[in-house]
Amino acid sequence: MARLKLGVLISGRGSNLQSLIEACAEADYPAEIVLAISNEPEAPGLERARRAGIRAEIVDHRDFSGREAFERALDRALAGADAGLVCLAGFMRLLTPWFVERWNDRLINIHPSLLPAFPGLDTHARALAAGVRIAGCTVHFVRAEMDRGPIVVQAAVAVEDGDDAAGLAARVLAAEHRCLPLAVRLIAEGRVRVAGERCEIAGAAEPPPPLISPSPSGCG
Ligand code: GAR
Repeated sequence: MARLKLGVLISGRGSNLQSLIEACAEADYPAEIVLAISNEPEAPGLERARRAGIRAEIVDHRDFSGREAFERALDRALAGADAGLVCLAGFMRLLTPWFVERWNDRLINIHPSLLPAFPGLDTHARALAAGVRIAGCTVHFVRAEMDRGPIVVQAAVAVEDGDDAAGLAARVLAAEHRCLPLAVRLIAEGRVRVAGERCEIAGAAEPPPPLISPSPSGCG
């Protein structure tokens, strides 16, 4: 079966891009990265792509008169590379309804919280301030409203007493690196159906036991 062609949009470090690069290197993985684009010329993720032999382009939003012109350039590059699915992997620009509509149900985002809780920036600090005992991450189809859309995969991560935002972010990031390749795999295998605001996943295994935080073992 033909592999799903991915366009990956980044703005920085690119560790989620790296997780896709590594997944795509597996012989039986049903997707391949055809293009990585950064809106930030200095994004370290660009180098990760180039090292892996992936075409990496800079589309700097500052070079355009407005959002639409910037997004038209993104769209041209993605369509030109024949991308079938676009992954926002730490892409820190808001997209207009025009772009979101154009890539409807072919555009996913990874966000470091259990959406719909804590959309936007500073998610870990806000989760800690709110005192949640379980944090996590979400891969979802993108809709016009920021950090909203049908959820494909989520992972839950227990918050530990004494956690700071950096420590929590690191453990959530490790979960992100598993969730994004999993979501892409499920979509590429045709197992994800968007039904209204929800995704139905065909052939999912038995759900794991609940994550309870703090762990009941040792709590008597
Ligand atoms: C990731 O934690 C990703 O979830 C987050 O930015 C980080 C990028 O890291 N994205 C957002 O906050 C988008 N709302 P990376 O560049 O190493 O993949």
